[in-house]
Amino acid sequence: MKPDLGVDLAPDHPRGLRLRNPVLTASGVLGYGESLPPGLEVSRLGAFVCKGTTLDAREGNAPPRVAETPAGMLNSIGLQNIGVHALIADMAPRWATWPTPVIVNIAGLGLEEYGELARMLDGVPGVAALEVNISCPNVATGGQELGASPPLAAEAIRLVKAACSLPVLVKLSPNVTDIVAVARAVVEAGADALTLINTLVGMAVDVRLRRPVLGNVTGGLSGPAIKPVALAMVYRVAGAVRVPLIGCGGISSARDALEFILAGATAVQVGTACLADPAVPVEIAEGLEGYLLSEGIRDISQLVGAARTPQPVVAPSLGGQ
Ligand SMILES: Cc1cc2nc3c(=O)[nH]c(=O)nc-3n(C[C@H](O)[C@H](O)[C@H](O)COP(=O)(O)O)c2cc1C
Repeated sequence: MKPDLGVDLAPDHPRGLRLRNPVLTASGVLGYGESLPPGLEVSRLGAFVCKGTTLDAREGNAPPRVAETPAGMLNSIGLQNIGVHALIADMAPRWATWPTPVIVNIAGLGLEEYGELARMLDGVPGVAALEVNISCPNVATGGQELGASPPLAAEAIRLVKAACSLPVLVKLSPNVTDIVAVARAVVEAGADALTLINTLVGMAVDVRLRRPVLGNVTGGLSGPAIKPVALAMVYRVAGAVRVPLIGCGGISSARDALEFILAGATAVQVGTACLADPAVPVEIAEGLEGYLLSEGIRDISQLVGAARTPQPVVAPSLGGQ
């Protein structure tokens, strides 16, 4: 019998957010899906998450905006995007014909903008849910402060929840002292699920030119290098909140995805790995199915949190020293 890979990312929401499998694309790596690369069969994804979108279109940061690092990459795109009006006019009608839910990642350049974006996207055909980015480290106008402050993050989510009836995922920043405190605050404010993590602040220096590689000086580190950090954060947050978690950070194989699910994630997102090979998310979904078949497990939900141990992980300082 075929195992059940289906998950619901908003079980407490009146509409729910049911996906055929737990593998999503991560925001920012495949734009708005306007020219999906060959190999990415959208009908076999759990969901597609679009580029982070602001009220007005943005040009983004000065180049260079990407740099390779050992086991990862830095980006300082700076939320270049088409703006929510163009998204609603040009992208959502196309998504409405897709056989796969599209989750719109929103980023406000200020608290009120979050509520405004949610109000505009509410009820738009083709928009299945919102993912609220409170964590972009590249925008000087306040994104990072919001993600690092439990009361401010909670206020953004309250505004979003009050302005729309869509399921709301909140994407957390790893660039904080205590991610559990932020997670608790946004769940209290009504988050239906949490995505973790966004990129870690990083930097590269060009020794020949004797200056930073990125035009923005710092950028967001992603890829395999951040997987252990993301896993630890999923594990800790899973012990603190009851909503579904979507693990993200360095996932490029079914084995990686399983690690996140066993640590407590209900689903996963694939970011940087899509840039090298857009077929990776579908291959991961197939790999998960193969694992369930070979292990004789009927339902993927049986694996969520299966690696959790009884002893609590209490403080971020428990790094082993
Ligand atoms: C080029 C690039 C652009 C990104 N843009 C966004 C964005 O607009 N909004 C967002 O929430 N995350 C954005 N991210 C972060 C990813 O969605 C993801 O959280 C992060 O890269 C970690 O996952 P990964 O290691 O699988 O890439 C971006 C990442 C990359 C590499």
